[in-house]
Amino acid sequence: MQVHVADHPLISHKLTVLRDKRTDSPTFRRLADELVTLLAYEATRDVRVEPVEVETPVAKATGVKLSSPRPLVVPILRAGLGMLDGMQRLLPTAEVGFLGMIRNEETLEASTYAERLPDDLAGRQCYVLDPMLATGGTLSAAIEFLVRRGADHITAVCLLATPEGIARIERDLTGIGVPVTLVTAGLDEKLNEKGYIVPGLGDAGDRLYGVVG
Ligand code: URA
Repeated sequence: MQVHVADHPLISHKLTVLRDKRTDSPTFRRLADELVTLLAYEATRDVRVEPVEVETPVAKATGVKLSSPRPLVVPILRAGLGMLDGMQRLLPTAEVGFLGMIRNEETLEASTYAERLPDDLAGRQCYVLDPMLATGGTLSAAIEFLVRRGADHITAVCLLATPEGIARIERDLTGIGVPVTLVTAGLDEKLNEKGYIVPGLGDAGDRLYGVVG
């Protein structure tokens, strides 16, 4: 897996405010949205395009347009939803599919509880949105799911990642035969015994949408 830690002062600034436990939910949502748009710029560096002719007021020019089939953006519910608008701002014509995955807080293993995706993803570039790459279980299961459906190019966009999570994905996806890239705003130190990223930013879903009892 290719790992790209975005290195930009605006990204670091916004991430720092997100980490701050005093940041309230509305501010957290707005900053997460802005941060994802900045990450989306990096994440779409390899988006497929094809040549197209346009006529300017002066002359003909050759440019590019996004190729078909269009890219598919896949937020992982629930917290990935907080990243969708920021991604769509740069890729407004992408299709969107949803994957609901939940982590068992004891075993830390992920399972799928909802799915709304095209049956056939052959030839599709997929952008998976999951704010926290912690143990790597959820993201790894999501990527395997998409590759089983035929996706041939995966980019994961995460606010934060851990070395343990990256190692797990690399182990799980050995020999998968599809290029996988991770774009993240920060690579944190470690996971704690409860599976939280340290220093992290806490529970991303709770900070975006409040605590579900
Ligand atoms: N999920 C979160 O929301 N936060 C973490 O720190 C780890 C997993």
